[in-house]
Formats: sequence, C-alpha cells, structure tokens
Amino acid sequence: MCKKSRGENTRAVQLPDPPVPAQRPAGLPVYRTAGFVFADAAEHADLVHEGGGYLYGRVDNPTCDAFADAVAALEGVTVEGVRGQAFASGMAAISAVLLAFTRSGSHVVAPLALYGGAYELLVGLMSRFGVTADFVDFADLEQVRAVLRPSTRLVWAETLATPGMAVADLPGLASLAHGRGALLVVDSTAATPVLCRPLEYGADLVVHSATKYLGGHGDALGGVVAGRADLVAEVRGVRVATGAVLGPDEAFLLRRGLETLPLRVRRQCDTAAQFAAAMARHPAVRAVDYPGLPGHHGHTLARRLFDRGPEGTRFGALVTVTPHGGRVAGLALCDALRLAGTATSYGGTRTTVAHVGATALTGRDDVLLAGGGVDPGAVRFSIGLEDAEDLIRDAVEALDTLSADLRRPAAPGAAHEAVPG
Ligand SMILES: Cc1ncc(COP(=O)(O)O)c(C=O)c1O
Repeated sequence: MCKKSRGENTRAVQLPDPPVPAQRPAGLPVYRTAGFVFADAAEHADLVHEGGGYLYGRVDNPTCDAFADAVAALEGVTVEGVRGQAFASGMAAISAVLLAFTRSGSHVVAPLALYGGAYELLVGLMSRFGVTADFVDFADLEQVRAVLRPSTRLVWAETLATPGMAVADLPGLASLAHGRGALLVVDSTAATPVLCRPLEYGADLVVHSATKYLGGHGDALGGVVAGRADLVAEVRGVRVATGAVLGPDEAFLLRRGLETLPLRVRRQCDTAAQFAAAMARHPAVRAVDYPGLPGHHGHTLARRLFDRGPEGTRFGALVTVTPHGGRVAGLALCDALRLAGTATSYGGTRTTVAHVGATALTGRDDVLLAGGGVDPGAVRFSIGLEDAEDLIRDAVEALDTLSADLRRPAAPGAAHEAVPG
C-alpha cells in the first residue's frame, strides 16, 4: 500500500520507531511499555518457548530488571552469583517467596513480632492452603530449634524488627534452618544492605519492602527478592504467574533512590543514635528501644553482625520511644510533635511517627500488647534527614508538654530499659 494513501489515524498510531542510541544513556530509561515487538513471528515463538529476551511487561521489563540487579549487587557484595527480582510491593515479594517454597503440609517458623502484614498472610491466607506456622521469640534460638520439624520449609527472620528493634542472630538461624533442610529467608527492610547483608551470614534469600529505605522518598511502592540464582528463578516464576509486577515508573524511582542509599541511611542512623540518646535522658520517657543503646537486648549482636565502618557500627534509623503514661501519653506525644507527621510507612527523608498500640491490627498484636512484648504507649520514630538538633528539640518540647502527672523522675543513673520486642 502506498504510504500516502494511509489514513490519518493509521499515520497517527504507526509512528516511526524511536532512535536506539549507540551511546549509553546517563540516566535510566523508563520502558513504559506493556510489551515488545519482535523481528518476526519465529522470534516471538522462540521467546515464548525458550525465553532469553523481553516478551511481555508482566514477564520482564528492562527498567525493573535494572532495579532488581542493582539491589542484588548491593546485597551480594561478597557473595557470588546473587540475582534479584522486583515486585509490586514488599508484600508481593513476601507472598511470592511463600508461594514458591511451601506446599500443602509445609511448615514455616517466624518471629512472634513478625511484620503484621506477613503474619496476616501466613495465618489468614497461607493456612487455607495447608501451610502451618509457628511464631516464637527469635531472641532465644532454643525456641526456634524446638518448633523445627521435618516439614519445616522456611525459617523467616527480620534483620531488625520493629517495634522492639530486635536483631536476628542470622548465623545461628542459618545453621538451625540448614540443619533441618529448610531455607532461611530474611526480611531486611529496616536494616538495608548498608547495615547488614544477610546472604553473607548464610541466608538463602533476602527480601525488602523497597517502599521504605531503598526507594527512600516515600513516593513509590515496591519490593525485591535477592539471593541464589536458582531460588530467585523460582520466585520469578510465581511473580510471572501471579502478575505482581513492579511498574516501570516505580522501578525508575526506586533505582534512583539506591544511588543515595548509603548517604541517606548513614546520616539517618547517626541522627537516630543522637535522638535515641536524648530521648533516653528525658524524664517523661519510660523506655527507648534502639540497638545503638548499650542496654538494648540487640546491641551486642548488632555490633557483631552490622557493618563496622570507620566511624563505628550503625544501628538503624528506627527508634521506639515509650513515654510514661501508656497509650494516652503515646498518642499525646504523636500529636504534640511539629516536625514528625503520623504515618504508616517509614524509611523516607522526612521523619514520621506511628503509635504502635493504637495501630495494632491483628490478634497477635493484642497478644504482644497484653503480654508486655509491646508497650501500649510505644511510638515508633522513623528518623529522616532533618537536622538532629531540630528533631531532638521538637521531641523534647513535645514530651515537655505531656501533662505533669504523666512524668516521673528518672532514677539517678538508671539506663532506660529496652522493651522486649
Ligand atoms: C518489615 C516489612 N516488611 C514488609 C513490608 C511490606 O511492604 P509493602 O508495604 O511495600 O508491601 C513492610 C511494610 O511496612 C515492612 O515494614
């Protein structure tokens, strides 16, 4: 057909192909496309059957792969052959790992203080498919050992678990899991590869909610799994089948976030350390949970497992502050802050808070609250990039405004004890 004889609409959609530059782009191109066009029908058929190229946006996308590869590189600094897969959210990544490695009759061991979304998934959904789970205190490896059984497929840990900021004994857990033929999967969202790389301690897979520190700006949801190529291929299979695919625009934002990850996280940790120390000195504060405080139950383990840079070990940027006065005081603290807004997520550039007890969702949370594992007044601070002095002044002023009857003088020299997490 003569080109000139084509109608206006045909010409409008049959646009010339964009140029493919010989030079590498300095920024990451966003492949905002649902699919790809093949040289001919034979190439299409080859890709469907053999793989090895880009077929369809739900299967693979170069921008998403660039993000997953970058996380794999950060997690696999000293471990060979680490691969990554990107997901629509942290929960999509967690679901894919559970679906990939459990069957009806499989058993999973996880911490009692497991992230609530993962807990709900295991108890509310996976149980419908015959997957059972035990939740125990990971601070005591004997409790983990006691519930392992031949059907245990996964030991699920969190490097640094909110709200108590428990630190997982990754080498101990890896040896227990592997001794029983199970995989150790570690959700390292709160630690990030800047503080700790679980694969170096024997974990088989590491999972992140990239929504938090990896992206780091609170503007994109995403998840990622990294680890051994054959395991990651299984997880990819679930992603393709379930369609829990990361969008290319989000992949761009998340990968750009990675470029400043070490700078952001180190500074946020340094501010958090100053903040935690200042909070522990305030008379209206009953407890501060922060592994950087020498009295915290995870301090020694964090010193052993977390990266020791020239300035020393860093302990994360989440600090749980519990004022005297329980739930009411916690709510009053959140509302009295001027810099930190109350928010669900964490890990962004702006400091946010969440009242742990008031946002408890699951029956398990009620058990933790009732059993003293979580104080009803606990407030989790996600320390951002503001100046430390401003954050401390804001929190001190907020604590000062709590009514006098909620305050009790600190015993002379008494360290503020961590709340068991
Ligand atoms: C430790 C941890 N893992 C996983 C998730 C789930 O991530 P997302 O919200 O990206 O699905 C969260 C979210 O808060 C989290 O804190």
